[in-house]
Amino acid sequence: MDDQLIRPYDPARPAGRPAATRAAPDLTAATDLKEEVATRLDAARRNSLALLDPVADDDLVRQHSPIMSPLVWDLAHVGNYEELWLLEAVAGLRAGPVTLDDIYDAFRHPRSERPSLDLLGPSEARSYIATVRSKVLDVLDRVELDPERQLVANAYVYGMVVQHEHQHDETMLATLSLMEGEGYRPSAPPPPPGHPVGPAEVRVDGGTFTMGTDLEVWAYDNERPAHQAEVAPFWIDTTPVTNAAYQQFIAAGGYRDRRFWSERGWAHRTKAGLVAPQFWQPEGGGGWSRVRYGFREELAPDEPVMNVCFFEAEAYARWAGKRLPTEAEWEKAASIEPGGRKRRYPWGDEAPTDAHANLGQRHFRPAPTGAYPAGVSPWGCHQMIGDVWEWTSSPFEAYPGYAWFPYPEYSQVFFGGDFKVLRGGSWATNPTAIRATFRNWDLPIRRQIFSGFRCARDA
Ligand code: AVJ
Ligand code: FE
Repeated sequence: MDDQLIRPYDPARPAGRPAATRAAPDLTAATDLKEEVATRLDAARRNSLALLDPVADDDLVRQHSPIMSPLVWDLAHVGNYEELWLLEAVAGLRAGPVTLDDIYDAFRHPRSERPSLDLLGPSEARSYIATVRSKVLDVLDRVELDPERQLVANAYVYGMVVQHEHQHDETMLATLSLMEGEGYRPSAPPPPPGHPVGPAEVRVDGGTFTMGTDLEVWAYDNERPAHQAEVAPFWIDTTPVTNAAYQQFIAAGGYRDRRFWSERGWAHRTKAGLVAPQFWQPEGGGGWSRVRYGFREELAPDEPVMNVCFFEAEAYARWAGKRLPTEAEWEKAASIEPGGRKRRYPWGDEAPTDAHANLGQRHFRPAPTGAYPAGVSPWGCHQMIGDVWEWTSSPFEAYPGYAWFPYPEYSQVFFGGDFKVLRGGSWATNPTAIRATFRNWDLPIRRQIFSGFRCARDA
C-alpha cells in the first residue's frame, strides 16, 4: 500500500495543494479490499478538506453562484450520502439526526434554494462528516463483503461513495473558480511540457464494438451493460481544441455568425451575451487573457480550451467544417484496439499514473497538447482522459438493457432530459472516478465545469 495516503490529514499542507493522487483501483489485484477501500475513503476526505482549508468561513457559507451550492452544503452532503449508504444501507446504522437527510437531499432542494436551508456551519459540517467516517470505518471492519449481496460485492457501494466525494470535490473547484476576488490560489507544479503529436486527425474504422462495461467493478449503472454499438468510419482530432485554435474562431467572427450556431445555440449565445469562453477577458488588439481562481494570466495557446458550453463547442466545430463526436465514436477512439479488444483506458488496462494523464488536481489546470505521449489511444488520440471534459453530440440516455442500481436518482431520472454527455474527465477528476466508459452529463448551456471538446467528421 502507498503509505503516503494513510498519513493523517495535515492542516499545515500548503493552501489548496491536494493530497498526492494515486492510481485508480485495480480491485482484482487488491490483496485486501477493505484496506483498499479505507485508503481510498481517506484520500477522498483529505482532498475535500485540503480544498476547503484555505477558504474563509464566510466564503464556505455564501452562495457564489445561483447554479452552485454553498460549499458547506457540498461538504455535509458528502457526509450525509456516506451515512445513508455506508451506515444505513450497509448496516442499518445512523450517525447524525435524520433531519439532515432532507437538507442534504439534492432532489428535494435545487441549488438555488440551498443557502436558505438550516445548513450545518463549517465546523459543524466538518465534525459531522468526521463522526460519520469513524462509524463507517468501524462497520467496514466488521461487514462481510458478501459476493451474493450486490450492494457490497466488490465493495461496490464503497466505490460509489468514494467516487461521489471526488465528484463533489470537482464541483467545489468549479464553485471556487466562480468566487469573487483573489481569495483562492491553489499552488501546484506546472504541467509537463507539450510535444508534437503527428497528424491533426486520424481515421477510425467503422463497425460494431463493445460499448459500456460489465467488467469494471466500480462502474456506475449508466455505464452498463456492455453492448454492441455500431459506428460508421469517422475522422477524429488527435487533440482537444486548443486556446489558440479557439481564438481563431473568435477572430474570424465565429460568435457573430449565425450560420455556425444551432437555433438553440444562437438563442442562448444572444441571451447570455456570449463572446468568448467563460473567464476570458479581452486585452485589446484581439488578444485575450483568462482569469483562473480570481487571478488574471496570459492565455496559454497550446492548452485545451476550457469553460465552453456545448453550444460554443458545436459552433466551433461547424466553423471548422467538422462536428462533435458522438459518445460511441469517442469511446471507440479512446478504448478499442483495431482488432476489437477493449482497453480500460486509452493506453491500456494499467491504472492511470502521472505519465498517462493529467488527473487528480495535480496541476490545477489542463496540460499543453502532447504532454502525455504515454497516454495515447490505440488510434493515436492524445489526452482523451484528463485535462478537460469533452462534449459529445450525444444526449444522456440509457444503454439497452440498463437497470438502475442502487438507486434511480443517480442516472435514471436524467435520461431523456436536456443533457449532453461529456467524456474523459478533467485535470480536476480523481483517477478513481474516470475510465474509458465513464459518462458525465450536463445541460448544454453549462460551462463552469472544466469542459472542452475535440472535433470529428464523417469519413
Ligand atoms: C455525474 C457530475 C452530473 O454532480 O450532478 C453528485 C454527480 N450525483 N451527486 C452531479 C453526482 C450525485 C453528478 N454528475
Ligand atoms: Fe451528490
